[in-house]
Amino acid sequence: MIPKSILINIRKMFRIWGRSTTKACYGLDPIEKEGPMKSDSRAVLASGLEGVIAAETRLSAVDGAAGELIIAGFPVEELAGRATFEEVVYLLWHDALPDPAELAAFRGELGAHRVLPRATLELLRAAAAEGAPAMDALRMAAGTVSLGGADDPYAEALVLVARLPTIVAAYWRLLNGDEPVAPDPELGHAANYLYMLTGEEPGAESVRALETYLNTVADHGMNASTFAARVIVATRSDVVSAIVGAIGALKGPLHGGAPGPALDVVFEIGESGRAEAVLREKLGRGERLMGFGHRIYKVRDPRADVLAAAAERLYATDGDEELYKLALEVEKTALEVLAGHKPGRKLQTNVEFYTALLLHGLGLPAELFSPTFAVARVAGWTAHSFEQQVLDRLIRPQSAYVGEKDRRWVPLEER
Ligand code: COA
Repeated sequence: MIPKSILINIRKMFRIWGRSTTKACYGLDPIEKEGPMKSDSRAVLASGLEGVIAAETRLSAVDGAAGELIIAGFPVEELAGRATFEEVVYLLWHDALPDPAELAAFRGELGAHRVLPRATLELLRAAAAEGAPAMDALRMAAGTVSLGGADDPYAEALVLVARLPTIVAAYWRLLNGDEPVAPDPELGHAANYLYMLTGEEPGAESVRALETYLNTVADHGMNASTFAARVIVATRSDVVSAIVGAIGALKGPLHGGAPGPALDVVFEIGESGRAEAVLREKLGRGERLMGFGHRIYKVRDPRADVLAAAAERLYATDGDEELYKLALEVEKTALEVLAGHKPGRKLQTNVEFYTALLLHGLGLPAELFSPTFAVARVAGWTAHSFEQQVLDRLIRPQSAYVGEKDRRWVPLEER
């Protein structure tokens, strides 16, 4: 069962929806103001669904023109560097920050669900023996949550949030020939993730940096993977299926798969002064520069600033400061080159550029950048799943048929 406190808050939101849709939205005027569309006459073709508002949410608001991100009422700059990840998950699920007793109880619940069942571990061992990419292993293993008796939306969500880091860390170790490190229920979510990856308790600076990352990307409006999750839940399917689908959507290089390639470019450039030539050559070959451009943000992605500041702190304490400086130079050059290459397109730095730098500074290999994104975004996916379950409206757009209409059957032997 979704706990009562979550249901009450979601229902409150839908009462606001009944009164004034426009008020509940942020930055965009909804096309439809009085509930579900009743006729087809206003159907518009938008192959990327741009300009379409598919749901109302209290979870996050993205203003692409102003470069603002609000997470459950908090500007991302206010929340990301201060909250623990557990507080952000609680905030998204309950629409309120936990008090100390609620936080302790929630930490305990998450800590108690981190251990992987044997079936999940066996699957990960088999995937590692095949050398499967980490996102594929995560997608497969996330589905095993259904085996463990999590039989209602809240229990499923709890186990998913708790277990995704264990799956990623265990898989990475298995892939490298090491045995998984058992989770430590005493450690916080972020600290425990780093601990399970390395077997060593991380320093406070690393934990703060990872926590800042996880909080920054925990939710982000109706992004592709969140939409995928909502589409699945909207059929009255379960939360585990929604999260498995969302992981599949996140994997794509246009969504969560960009940070690895973004860092590759910095390494390929390698030294000061080479950025312009390398970047121009890539664009000349028709490639996109990873870490730049965004469907919604037409100014700098506010998450890039939050993560750049976190990366700067991390690299200043125990990182490769030269790499950080080079990344700054690559970003500056990329923006100049893109402005000339696609004038008027407003291609700015997106979250992935500094994600790559920050996670690299934490010692994470590029193969784990997208899985770590999933470890964070599962907070938003599960919260959106709750919202969609309460809304209980099948998501079913239309297609415009452009094929032939008068074909006649030709028997096989005559073709
Ligand atoms: N490098 C080079 N050109 C880019 C570009 C990039 N990173 N991002 C967009 N463009 C170009 C497109 O080729 C297109 O040019 P055209 O109109 O001449 O065909 C134009 O800018 C608009 O792109 P479009 O694909 O319509 O924008 P979108 O809103 O669909 O794309 C992204 C958004 C994120 C998919 C796109 O910017 C991209 O591919 N970025 C790189 C991948 C990335 O960093 N993803 C992480 C997103 S958080």
